[in-house]
Order: sequence, then C-alpha cells, then structure tokens
Amino acid sequence: MENKIKEINRLIEEFKIENKEALEKFRIQFLGSKNILKDLFSEIKNVAAEKRKEVGQSINALKSKAQNKFDDFMSDIDEKDNEIDSIDLSLPGDNVLLGSRHPLSIVNEEFIEVFEKIGFTVSEGPEVEDDWHNFTGLNLPEEHPARDMQDTFFIEKNPDWLLRTHTSSVQMRVMEAQELPIRTITPGRVYRNEAISARAHCFFHQVEGLYIDKNVSFADLKQTLLYFAQQYFGKNTKIRLRPSYFPFTEPSAEMDVSCTLCNQKGCKVCKNTGWLEIGGCGMVDPNVLKNANIDPEEYSGFAFGFGIDRIAMLKYEINDLRLFSENDVRFIDQFKASW
Ligand code: DAH
Repeated sequence: MENKIKEINRLIEEFKIENKEALEKFRIQFLGSKNILKDLFSEIKNVAAEKRKEVGQSINALKSKAQNKFDDFMSDIDEKDNEIDSIDLSLPGDNVLLGSRHPLSIVNEEFIEVFEKIGFTVSEGPEVEDDWHNFTGLNLPEEHPARDMQDTFFIEKNPDWLLRTHTSSVQMRVMEAQELPIRTITPGRVYRNEAISARAHCFFHQVEGLYIDKNVSFADLKQTLLYFAQQYFGKNTKIRLRPSYFPFTEPSAEMDVSCTLCNQKGCKVCKNTGWLEIGGCGMVDPNVLKNANIDPEEYSGFAFGFGIDRIAMLKYEINDLRLFSENDVRFIDQFKASW
C-alpha cells in the first residue's frame, strides 16, 4: 500500500501538463469519477486497523495535491484564454487619424518638384528684412514711387527693418552669397499692410525664381515659364506675357496662363477672358546685378515671382483668401485626398 501511495505521488508530481488535452488526461486519471485514488480508498479496508488512519490521511493528501496541481494549471490556462478572448479579431481596427497637408504646402511642393527637374535649387531668406534687400538693392531707392506699390510694415525698433513685401528680397541675398551661375527658386511668406478681405490679406505667399548665367536671354525666360505652365497646369496650357513695369527687371512682363478650367471658352474664374494672371517676370535689371557685384557686361539673368495663394485658389477653386489662415479643420480636411 505504501508503495502504491509513493508511486501515485510520483505520477502526480511528474505528470507534465503542457496543454488543455494533457490537463484533461490528468483530471480523468487523478480527479475523475474513476480516478486511481478511488481504488486506493477502496483498498483501505485491507490495511491493518492501527495504520488505516495514517494511510487514509496520506491518500487524502494525494487527492489535495492532485487538485492543487489541476487548479494551478487551470488558472494559468484561464488567464491565457482571457488574453486571447479580449482581442476580437473580427472587429474593425481603430481609425488612425491622418493629418492633412495645407493646400499652400501642396502647391509649394509641386512647384519645387517642377523646377528641381530643370536644375533649380531651393533658397530661403528672412521674413524680417532690411531695406537694402527688399528695396534699395532691387533698384527701388528711397523716394522711388514704386515703393508705394507695396504697403510696407516697418519694424518700430529699427527704421531699417521691415517685413519683406516680396520674395524678391531673397534674389539679392542669393546673388550676394552664391557663386555663379545661379538657378534657384524661393518660396515664402510675404507681408503687406492691406485691409483683409476675400481677395487681399496682410500676409500671403510667393515663389520667386532667379537664373543668372552668361548669355541668358528673354527666350530662356519664356521657355522656362512655358515649361512650368505645361508641367503644372497641363501640357496644352499656353502662356501670354504682357509688357509691364517692375523696378528690378528690364524688360518686365506680367504672365498669364490659359484658363484650363474652361479651355479658354470663358468662365467665372477667368472672368471670361480665357486667361489667368499668375505673376510678374523679366530680365534682371543691370543695376540690380551691379548692386550684387555681378558684372552685367558678362552676366545676364531672368527672374519671376508668382503668387502661391492665387495659384492654390485657382487650382482648388477656393474663393476666399482668408480660409488659408483660419485653420478651420473643415477646410483643411478637404485636402486629404492629395496625399
Ligand atoms: N516682386 C513682385 C511682386 O511682388 C513680383 C515679381 C515681378 C518678381 C517681376 C520678379 C519679377 O522676380 O521679375 O509683385
């Protein structure tokens, strides 16, 4: 009897419960309705009377041992099951909230992409600018009437400082700092003291282009602008240059692109003209080159400046400039599809 108890004790101890099947086998063998401990109990009557109590206790101890081992594994398995149950793989996943790109950033990057393809770099300059880079260096000396074309915010602390009124200021900086030839575009924010309305704002965005090398001609300017227009607005787009005046270019022109919304048939956006104005351009004035210590006898160049807000308004048919800076998610969310 003693040996049987020892043997069963060993069996209980050594039984490996690695999965639910093994646990069930263990249960049947040691705890089920026909478990081997029951056989032991039924044999107690054969044990000497004075030993019965002790043997009975030993068998009971075996029973608790088997029960404890069973319970331990059971709770282990329950825990694991719970973990698995808590993940319902049939449920749809959590929504990942995607941010959206600002329409001005989208237009900006598309611009950069188009010009990078033909070797233009991207430059930056400060928004708080000095008089030289924003005006004087660009052939707009003090008292020049063309300064009134752009209502300027001056910085009280220093009368020489102002918020740049155009990205042309970076032309001066690039010509002063970079080696020739120069081929660069400059996107950025500009400021003008204007009453805020659907069509005007005290700040807006421009992209400036500058190309300086030997033998750069007006034909290069025209072809570059045509390349841009066709890449950006579609390959059938036409451009039109109208004579104009800017102090920093000579000759100067305003650039229009054919209205792609109505195919030049005339619509609300192009005000029935078939053309959309997108910016100014021209050959860099020799005085500007001299101001940047570039010899106009040896080098020539062209420049252009486009309004980014205007192009975004045309592209996305946005009718109010103020929407760009109000940060209303209902507006910004609409540009998700452009990712
Ligand atoms: N700076 C001008 C403006 O803000 C735009 C412009 C016109 C830029 C002609 C140029 C240019 O580079 O050549 O109205």
